[in-house]
Amino acid sequence: MVGSGGREHAICDVLAREGYQVIAAPGNVGISKAVPCTDQDPRDLDADLFVIGPEAPLVEGLADDLRAQSKLVFGPGRQGARLEGSKDFMKEIAAAAKVPTAKYATFTAIEEAISYLKNKEGPYIIKTDGLAAGKGVLVTSDLDAAVDDVRAKLSGQSFGQAGTKVIIEDFLSGREVSVLAIVDGSRAILLPAAADHKRLNDGDLGPNTGGMGAFAPVEWFDEALQRQTMDNIITPVIEELKLRGIDYRGVLYAGLMVDQDGPSLVEFNVRFGDPEAQVVIPLVEGNFGEVLLAAARGDLASLELRPRGAGAVVVMSASGYPSNPRSGDKIAGLSAIEGDASIRVYHSGTALDAQGDLVTSGGRVLGVTALGDSKEEALERAYRAIAGVEFEGGHYRRDIGVGR
Ligand code: AMP
Ligand code: GLY
Repeated sequence: MVGSGGREHAICDVLAREGYQVIAAPGNVGISKAVPCTDQDPRDLDADLFVIGPEAPLVEGLADDLRAQSKLVFGPGRQGARLEGSKDFMKEIAAAAKVPTAKYATFTAIEEAISYLKNKEGPYIIKTDGLAAGKGVLVTSDLDAAVDDVRAKLSGQSFGQAGTKVIIEDFLSGREVSVLAIVDGSRAILLPAAADHKRLNDGDLGPNTGGMGAFAPVEWFDEALQRQTMDNIITPVIEELKLRGIDYRGVLYAGLMVDQDGPSLVEFNVRFGDPEAQVVIPLVEGNFGEVLLAAARGDLASLELRPRGAGAVVVMSASGYPSNPRSGDKIAGLSAIEGDASIRVYHSGTALDAQGDLVTSGGRVLGVTALGDSKEEALERAYRAIAGVEFEGGHYRRDIGVGR
């Protein structure tokens, strides 16, 4: 397992519970309690299956390097990972595959982008072309704020080189949902749909974050919508990639906006979402490892996912997140909830200090996941558990699951 976040912790935890022998590179403090961790480069390790968690190594071509050594890999190569690594590429593929998605234009020149904005109605959506850790998108109705954002991005001030190309797109309204497909190069199966809460504060206020909590499945995202997503979005994109010689094996995460005409594509990610992974993966525990292996082998044909019940995850973030998270705050209260079998605590930004105490060391510090027979039960359990976790400046939303 390559990676060091909450998503990787959830994957390691579930694979270990299914009886697989797992090693994480590099892993984190929480993961090291579940499976061994190593600082070695994954290219220097051997395994029956390599699962690559985060987008950065995928975009950099780790999967290609491993496949070149004849390793079995779950995760797309460099070309496929451009679906996330470049919004411009993603839009081009979506257009070629006739996937419903917002109209857009791409800019590198500041004045051209600004005049396009001025001739447009809001709300304005401005996206950094390259990777920006979930923070590259501004949605605003304020034209001045949109203009300032375009200047900051195109001048390189916001995201350096990764930010010097922007996409400006039309606003889509509707209900948002994250659909994660497991893809084996030609076929796909869908994980239970999840809803993620991206804003920092209750009521969807405050800045965009990587995600403050999630639940699954999403009740209103019924079988008909799942079928439309498969037929109008996932399958045509896999076909379009194949036409271009891209054999995509891994997760294709479609961020969707759903209105009366059905689902439209907002974004693709090329990995499990985080925190979505922290809830959908525990839900399919029992056959998750088999599905990863089959996808990596190009042989999903005979497999299905068997979800049970519902799950919710609430993320606790550090003081100052997302702009300037503080490290080093001591975390208390975890041992009291770790004994509860319906709760999992997944670490994202934790470390051990010189005294060996658990402290914060990143923006999103940890996620508390609970399963239950219903969404309400899962949420109730997650909130009861997280209430016992404490650190200076620790923050979590109280309204995960509300209004979605
Ligand atoms: P992205 O990183 O592309 O998913 O964008 C981050 C968030 O911005 C999404 O989860 C949506 O809530 C919002 N967003 C992005 N694009 C659009 C759009 N075209 N219309 C409405 N909201 C959008
Ligand atoms: N939670 C959104 C993401 O992983 O991109």
